[in-house]
Amino acid sequence: DEGRILVVGSVNVDLVLGVPRHPEPGETLAGTGSRRSPGGKGANQACAAALLGGDVRFAGRTGAGPDADLALALLRDAEVDLTATKEVPAEETGLAVVTVDEAGENSIVIIAGANGSWSAQDVKSLRAAVKASDLVVSQGEIPAAAVDQLALLCAETGTRFLLNLAPVIEVGAGTLATADPLVVNESEGRLALTALTGTDAPDAPDAPDAPDDDAATVRGLRDAGVPSVVMTRGARGAILATDAEFAEVSSPKVHAVDTTGAGDAFVGALAVGLARGESAADACRRAVRVGAFAVTRHGAQPSYPSRQDELPQ
Ligand code: RIB
Ligand code: NA
Repeated sequence: DEGRILVVGSVNVDLVLGVPRHPEPGETLAGTGSRRSPGGKGANQACAAALLGGDVRFAGRTGAGPDADLALALLRDAEVDLTATKEVPAEETGLAVVTVDEAGENSIVIIAGANGSWSAQDVKSLRAAVKASDLVVSQGEIPAAAVDQLALLCAETGTRFLLNLAPVIEVGAGTLATADPLVVNESEGRLALTALTGTDAPDAPDAPDAPDDDAATVRGLRDAGVPSVVMTRGARGAILATDAEFAEVSSPKVHAVDTTGAGDAFVGALAVGLARGESAADACRRAVRVGAFAVTRHGAQPSYPSRQDELPQ
């Protein structure tokens, strides 16, 4: 049994611009090319999970018109259930302008558009879908009030809730106490810990790579009441902390061409493993390989592996 996954979150059109390096304020820079592709962290995660064989339903909000079709195209191809995805004709489809430099590093500006129109009431209408799911997944690209309501529905229905707090938004403490797991990268983890405890996280800003401090951040989040935590660390893999274990998961070494959406590929793969009933450690081990695969190709969703693809070791 695959287990049913419900992803509630953002869907965007990504306008991806290749740049030799990221521009400075006030600078005009010639790019190397442009392309539009489906994106948004919620849609990306749903796509990644479905391509890996997950049984996935996506609840998102788009505007009307051709941008909505582009934004949902690869979800349709991956046979994601879109019956809970709605058009909000008064809004534009979410837009992300993504610049990718020659080292594959990106910077992203998002216009939320229809993603910003999610209300707590909209989420309440998903109660039956939440109840019918084995795992619910969300992120920080829809309003915090909607994420809080979703966490509440999960708690009320006894449904496991995976929260990828990307970007970090001001969700309630009760939402973080429901996240099993909370998935964050290094800087999101530090911000989340500061938000939860009101104190500075262990890692000083001048030592962003210190591995011990990542571990301390993860432990701090657990001590602050988060049921389980997964910290993604790019090429350095992931840290997993649950009641049962504390583990570092290493990543295969790959040549990065575009890191856009690699974290979403990781979350989608993690969701598939957890929904199937795998241990968090097993699910994380596959998820880092799926994330590594995604960085070796351009774009977000267009770079995600299917079940037939061979993952890097
Ligand atoms: O995580 C990558 C995604 O962030 C992009 O697809 C972009 O749409 C933004 O939401
Ligand atoms: Na990619």
